[in-house]
Amino acid sequence: MFEKGLIKKEENMFQEEKRKTNYGTICLVCFFCFFFAFQFMKLVTTQPSTTTSTISVIDSPISSDKLSDRREYWSIRPPSTYCLKIESFRKLANSPNIEKYESRPFPSGGYNWTLIVYPKGNKKDGGEGQVSLYVQIDNSTLLNSPKEVYAEVKFFIYNRKEDKYLTYQETDPRRFFLFKPYFGQPRTKSYDEISNPDPNAGYNFDGDTNLFGVDVFVTETFNNWEVFSFSESLHNRVYTWTLLNFSSLTKQFYVSEVFVIGGRSWTLKVYPSGDREAQGNSMSLYIVAAGIKPYEEIYLKAKLRILNQRDTNHVEKKVESWSDQENSWGFEKFVSFANLTDTSRGLLVNDTLKMEVEFEDFSNTKYFPS
Ligand SMILES: *[C@@H]1O[C@H](CO)[C@@H](O)[C@H](O)[C@H]1NC(C)=O
Ligand SMILES: *[C@@H]1O[C@H](CO)[C@@H](O)[C@H](O)[C@H]1NC(C)=O
Ligand SMILES: *[C@@H]1O[C@H](CO)[C@@H](O)[C@H](O)[C@H]1NC(C)=O
Ligand SMILES: *[C@@H]1O[C@H](CO)[C@@H](O)[C@H](O)[C@H]1NC(C)=O
Ligand SMILES: *[C@@H]1O[C@H](CO)[C@@H](O)[C@H](O)[C@H]1NC(C)=O
Repeated sequence: MFEKGLIKKEENMFQEEKRKTNYGTICLVCFFCFFFAFQFMKLVTTQPSTTTSTISVIDSPISSDKLSDRREYWSIRPPSTYCLKIESFRKLANSPNIEKYESRPFPSGGYNWTLIVYPKGNKKDGGEGQVSLYVQIDNSTLLNSPKEVYAEVKFFIYNRKEDKYLTYQETDPRRFFLFKPYFGQPRTKSYDEISNPDPNAGYNFDGDTNLFGVDVFVTETFNNWEVFSFSESLHNRVYTWTLLNFSSLTKQFYVSEVFVIGGRSWTLKVYPSGDREAQGNSMSLYIVAAGIKPYEEIYLKAKLRILNQRDTNHVEKKVESWSDQENSWGFEKFVSFANLTDTSRGLLVNDTLKMEVEFEDFSNTKYFPS
């Protein structure tokens, strides 16, 4: 019998485990044998050998039924959502014109549900001779939004002899919607087994009592999300910043006015006497994203330039990476003082420096709710 099989399984679990481990060891040994044999073959083969490996794919579509599997097991835990005790089960089952019993509505996850028991099976669903169990959502709530509800469902049938609940669980949440507001197990155990008053059967006890239960856990759909994308074509992709009286700048760094490109605010930041490693030898230049959220990261592809004011021989460096801790991209050693002050180069003219950023692409993440 099935229950006995189950109990035996539990007793034999340790042995099963051991056997599994043995299989694993055997597999491992086999694998190494093949591996070494293969390596040896490779050594002895002088001709370059072509290894063809064929992976056969079973070409059959997954049927929707197979997407969710039913698990059947004993549980000590009683149902969390609703319990239905039928004190005259056989009498109910054998009453004329009674095919099913539907419980009163009970709430779960913000909806009303009913538990439905077909003692002799729901013939329309292939459950003849079996006890069929269903849970149904109050369809009036589905007329308004949301139009569908997903819920994890478990059915329980109590067994007095085991003092446990025979449990039917689906691996995936089920969908309840207006055109199919119910889900169930048309085939659990046979009516004969469930209604058998013999204490050794255990489902029917205390005269003619059976206990059924259900768990309905509504799975919430996400309410927070984000959308990551790269900027669409930027109309205005260049910003130029002119800094006058360069030789008399005394502060550690200077920041341009805030400018908006691609819907985002930016600034240019320059360290005339060099940032960190570059101090005393090079000028540092960065592009900085303003108004970044603490968790937000931006991917930026852009060109930073110091314009040559005489010809087009600009000093140009490319950035292409995720934002760093300071939400900036750039170079400590953007241009050496030697090159910067070299009057033949045209970078610093009339003590004026012209810096530029040209955006190529950057990412944009939108957060909902913002
Ligand atoms: C559930 O049923 C109760 C009683 O009929 C009712 O008051 C309540 O509004 C219902 N809840 C929903 C979400 O329909
Ligand atoms: C809701 O369910 C009841 C009982 O199952 C049924 O009579 C009714 O037609 C359903 N309503 C809709 C809008 O589907
Ligand atoms: C630059 O220097 C000149 C002369 O020293 C001064 O008149 C002018 O205001 C300065 N410009 C800026 C922007 O500091
Ligand atoms: C100066 O500029 C030249 C030509 O652009 C470049 O090759 C050289 O590396 C630069 N020197 C420094 C120290 O940046
Ligand atoms: C530099 O200044 C001089 C005089 O102040 C002016 O004639 C010249 O055009 C300026 N050069 C540039 C490149 O602006």
